[in-house]
Amino acid sequence: MERLIAPSMLSADFANLACDIEMVNKSQADWFHLDIMDGLFVPNISFGFPVVERIKSLAAKPLDVHLMIVDPDRYLERFKEAGADWLTVHYEACTHLNRTLTRIRELGMKAGVSVNPHTPVELLTDVLEYADLVLIMSVNPGFGGQMFIPNSLNRIERLRKIVDAKNLPTLIEVDGGVGPGNARQLYEAGANVLVAGNAVFKADNPLSAIEMIKKA
Ligand code: DX5
Ligand code: ZN
Repeated sequence: MERLIAPSMLSADFANLACDIEMVNKSQADWFHLDIMDGLFVPNISFGFPVVERIKSLAAKPLDVHLMIVDPDRYLERFKEAGADWLTVHYEACTHLNRTLTRIRELGMKAGVSVNPHTPVELLTDVLEYADLVLIMSVNPGFGGQMFIPNSLNRIERLRKIVDAKNLPTLIEVDGGVGPGNARQLYEAGANVLVAGNAVFKADNPLSAIEMIKKA
């Protein structure tokens, strides 16, 4: 199964963003993971369009944009313009999820849907056909550097079974508290894409941290 790594730029050094982007460009990472927080859906505010656009201008790999915002329909087009290749919205933030995911695809992006730790993955059964990716939050979203919630493993396994039973190519991404210590278990549970913030950017050697996660 495909193994992808998406370093989360939330843990990068914002005063030296170009250096950290260059590191990811040179690394074995596959995507840039960008966390957009509005201070409403989550108790934190991260960054917005100007930063996404600048990252896009230097990034040699696709942008995986994770929207932790209420009513994301308002901004789908703007994120396309800013350079998003993958755009993920939260199940808990969308009233008409099929419509939102369909619109993301119509705009020419890959569509993702994310679930908070309390949302049963089974609730996604009827929208999987509309999603290229499911992002399982393995911490309560809002901050980098939190502890992985152990029950997330079981959630990945349950979702993997549903996706495989439907014979869909939907990728399963895991976000929060991921690092070299648990990467292997996550891949074995059925994850395809691992997001890592602190485990990469707070490591002494980010390049080898990425390699260790990828080869776990
Ligand atoms: C959390 C964000 C994550 C975060 C992960 O709300 O969605 O992408 O940056 O950071 P780590 O890997 O440090 O848990
Ligand atoms: Zn994220």
